[in-house]
Amino acid sequence: MSQKTVSSPLEDQEDSTRPNAAPSDAYDFLVVSNRLPVDRAGDGDDNGWRRSPGGLVTALAPIMEKSDGAWVGWHGAADEELEPFEHDSMALVPVPLSADELELYYEGFSNATLWPLYHDVIAPPEFHRAWWEAYQRVNQRFADAVIAHAAQGAMVWVQDYQLQLVPAMLRAARPDLKIGFFNHIPFPPQEIFAQLPWRRQVLEGLLGADLLGFQRPNDASNFARAARRFTAATGKGTRLAVMEGGRERLVRAEAFPISIDTQRISELASRPDIIERARQIRHDLGDPKTIMLGVDRLDYTKGIRHRLKAFEELLTDGRVKVGEVTLIQVASPSRERVEQYRLLREEVEGTVGRINGTFDTMQHTAVRYLHHSYPVEEMVALYLAADVMLVTALRDGMNLVAKEYVAARRDGTGALILSEFTGAADQLKQALLINPHDIAGLKNAITTAITLPSGVAGRRMKAMRRQILVHNVEEWSSIFLSRLTEVCR
Ligand code: G6P
Repeated sequence: MSQKTVSSPLEDQEDSTRPNAAPSDAYDFLVVSNRLPVDRAGDGDDNGWRRSPGGLVTALAPIMEKSDGAWVGWHGAADEELEPFEHDSMALVPVPLSADELELYYEGFSNATLWPLYHDVIAPPEFHRAWWEAYQRVNQRFADAVIAHAAQGAMVWVQDYQLQLVPAMLRAARPDLKIGFFNHIPFPPQEIFAQLPWRRQVLEGLLGADLLGFQRPNDASNFARAARRFTAATGKGTRLAVMEGGRERLVRAEAFPISIDTQRISELASRPDIIERARQIRHDLGDPKTIMLGVDRLDYTKGIRHRLKAFEELLTDGRVKVGEVTLIQVASPSRERVEQYRLLREEVEGTVGRINGTFDTMQHTAVRYLHHSYPVEEMVALYLAADVMLVTALRDGMNLVAKEYVAARRDGTGALILSEFTGAADQLKQALLINPHDIAGLKNAITTAITLPSGVAGRRMKAMRRQILVHNVEEWSSIFLSRLTEVCR
């Protein structure tokens, strides 16, 4: 791929007098995340590449497809060094990871220390010094890749918990950069964060940014409180001050709730072939009156066990009947070598087997369980087929599946059951909000959703659609980047 000197999305707002000592192969705008939007690890349906899993990529890919910037990240395979390349009109800069680093930095520190710690310790976080050492080393590699491709004064947007040390590493090497950070997952309350043996270093890493973005105002204030408690940062509320070279530098922590490419999902939902596919799915399940749907990475934060328990009890109580109601559970494979994920898979698959063994008939199934990931077209067909969408996360930074379901329901039908513990609950207020720990409440919400009068369902869905049609992911990124430009002035 030939690299180019490219402009940031906000170039016209920038200071045109700043020196431009940029090498000609550098970018004015870079996103850096652990994962690139494409992944090598799968069967590879698009020239050996498939779309990476998770909300981060869902949100950022539509932005980067329209941007001239570069995306720096790991390409999903171990021990493979690749040159920068172009994919779906995105400039991608791969960062290599060895098999050892995958184990220590990715599976270990990122997903067995930070992930459970930041999600209410639903699973017990593990603390190992060798993992922390690998985390520092790999964060430095990502920072170095950015430094090598960033033009003078470039805007760099660091993403998520895997790269929390990168902002300070960038600032140390390249004080000319404008550095933003966005945390896609929750930031825990100080009392929980305090468990992390390297809490000060992580906070100092983040404080290297000019602007720190979080999903909810609470996440931003949790961060600010922890920073004041465990580092030398001072300041009030979410405006922090750090000393740097004898001068005070301001760091802002604010909420920027992320969203989806609403227009794209909505358009797909009007495509005749996708509408036909939704009909086919319903037909293949024996045309039940009600299809319920869960779509999650197979992750213990998503409350899949709680959802299955509620459904199993409803079947046992006779409040729902097989043949009338079918639950489709898409559980896309995730972090399969991490112990807690292996245990979860065994438990979920055991439960599904038990439910189906007890309640299935020759013609009908209770739970159609699919341990796969699907292209967006198939996801939209599933959203269209589903009368009730179940989002029962025990803790979730945002949950973009909830927003995608709403985006797909153009005709205003359908009911969304949504956990209060998702960031999305702040925006999708007309959903049937539930506490997933309250199984009796969840069961009632399911029966309410199944019998919701169409007028009520329609009013709720239309209000939610209005919200996400306005507040889409393009708005999210432009608000964040304008704010970053503003705070850097
Ligand atoms: C969440 C995280 C992302 C992550 C994604 C998929 O959405 O916020 O940073 O990329 O899950 O997880 P994985 O470990 O497969 O990258």
